[in-house]
Amino acid sequence: MITKKIALVEGDGSGPEMMAQAVRVAVEAAKLDGINIEFIKTPMGWSAYHKFGDTLPIESFETAIAAGVIFFGGVGDFKDDSTIGVTRPELRPEARVLLALRKRMGLLLNFRPMIYYKALAPLANVKTEVIPDQGIKQVWIRYLLEDSYFGNADLLGKMPQDIADRIGVKMKQDVTGNEEIVSDIAYYRKETIEKYIRAAFAYARKVKLPLISIDKYNVMARYVFWRSIVSRIGKAEFSDVPLVHQLVDSAAALLFTPAKLNGVIACGNEHGDILSDGAAAALGSMGMMCSASINPDTNAALFESGAGTAPTLAGQDKANPLGRILTGALMLRHIGAEKGAAAIENAVNKILSEGYRTGDLITPADDPKKLLGTKAAGEMVLSRIK
Ligand code: IPM
Ligand code: MG
Repeated sequence: MITKKIALVEGDGSGPEMMAQAVRVAVEAAKLDGINIEFIKTPMGWSAYHKFGDTLPIESFETAIAAGVIFFGGVGDFKDDSTIGVTRPELRPEARVLLALRKRMGLLLNFRPMIYYKALAPLANVKTEVIPDQGIKQVWIRYLLEDSYFGNADLLGKMPQDIADRIGVKMKQDVTGNEEIVSDIAYYRKETIEKYIRAAFAYARKVKLPLISIDKYNVMARYVFWRSIVSRIGKAEFSDVPLVHQLVDSAAALLFTPAKLNGVIACGNEHGDILSDGAAAALGSMGMMCSASINPDTNAALFESGAGTAPTLAGQDKANPLGRILTGALMLRHIGAEKGAAAIENAVNKILSEGYRTGDLITPADDPKKLLGTKAAGEMVLSRIK
């Protein structure tokens, strides 16, 4: 057995309940590969604020960064957002915690594989006949740095203050609402796009899928730049990987005919945020979405389910932990526990085919006796792993 240390952020709302299940499943499954996972708790989010006075306690931050791999339960709760968050907006954890981790760890690649479960077909928001029998392969790789998310923070200090004032470049927490103009600078750097797109092409080659590159080159300069770099690298280094350019608006329309978006999908930070939620909802449920953010140079990584923290269900053993559990499978694959990862994915598929459902997944056609709470869902997955 080798021991692998991983930072654990249990998070807010139903996060701790869901993560308790995801953790026990990951620990058990990793043993199949001879890996003993040791989780180190690094509290972040509003729950951390109530104990330590900050949504991102510096000790948690440094410990998590040092671990290099973070299992992240999700942060944010509308109750604290609408009270403490109003007077101290800089503490709101979605931006304070997640963006800081992404930036500091250099998490450029955000994998969001969309898994279509036949058993959950009634939940899909597309007509079942547009989904072929062999299913859908849709792996989103969102560009997770730069763009409009980080532009102001990255570039504010690099421009004279009078210019920043004139064009309204501000930090989010400094916006008062009394401004005449406010802008978010969206930018891409050549070397970052090159690194990103090489990784996306290499992944497409490995999984034998086309690369679909999303942009808005008909209107925006940064996407003319994006498309020219993608085309150049595709032609010179990955001529064996089919490449399709897709405008972002038409890509949104294709979410409803997902077989036409079959491939590895490369997209900008803001486009990827929006489209990946749509893709998850089109194919099934947000509760099943999983996500892995990776630095391709250092291999530092953060594993978070794309779903929220379900604050209204907190403490009731009702939230769906399957997205967290599946995200654990992505994490296991990253640390070399391939058998464990596959075991988790098969177990989730199995319990769904057997008719088990969490509250968000159940429909009137399902057997109400097979409704699972958070803990029971974790136990059921666990029982199909051993
Ligand atoms: C996501 C989330 C985050 C984002 C928020 C919580 C900062 O929506 O990971 O998609 O916008 O990137
Ligand atoms: Mg999002």
